[in-house]
Amino acid sequence: MAVVGIVPAAGSGERLGASGPKAFAMCGGRSLIDWSLDVLEEVCERVVVAVPAGYEGAGGRVLGGASRSESVRRALAAAPEATVAVVHDAARPLITRELVERCLEALEGWDGVVAAARVADTIKEADSSGRVVRTLDRSALWAIQTPQVFRAEVLRRALDVDDSVLAAATDDASLVEAAGGSVRVVEAPADNIKVTRPVDLSLAEALLRARC
Ligand code: C5P
Repeated sequence: MAVVGIVPAAGSGERLGASGPKAFAMCGGRSLIDWSLDVLEEVCERVVVAVPAGYEGAGGRVLGGASRSESVRRALAAAPEATVAVVHDAARPLITRELVERCLEALEGWDGVVAAARVADTIKEADSSGRVVRTLDRSALWAIQTPQVFRAEVLRRALDVDDSVLAAATDDASLVEAAGGSVRVVEAPADNIKVTRPVDLSLAEALLRARC
């Protein structure tokens, strides 16, 4: 089994308001991406990172695409030996080795496994006027994170679609589901947050500090 880490890190990070790409913003004294690389490099045989133009220099880096899933497709194409792909956003520095290992263990008999937290808020669906259409059953709802672990051949097939389909996907598991693949959730801590806005960066730093 060749387990390869795939890290989409090519986003601009506009919402973070940093001077450069989000993955390379400083978080707790180092680049945001370094927290994830530490963990993935322990668990995976190697890691391929999709980066923005101008960041391709180091080994294991490929130029990212116009959308997150296009970046994943490009990184996976650079790892033809992979039989299992561990996809993880550079924007989630709170990943742990224990979480990746639980996802890998859960892959037996499935095409994909996604880390996910139980939803704490009540979720309602509303129409374009704001009128509530329905209140969903919270007990069956999960907030999906990364890592997302896949049989690499299934993920390759799922990513082999038009760029417009990739651009509309908010995660890779949804592409695998659309291709008929089986995907299960593994419960993950809610503090495996994604850094999007400046306040998330402060929260991530506080959570990382609390771990030491
Ligand atoms: O924008 P968002 O926070 O949802 O991005 C999630 C992850 O996907 C980030 O790590 C970001 O760097 C990456 N990404 C990418 N290529 C893009 C857009 C986002 O690798 N074109």
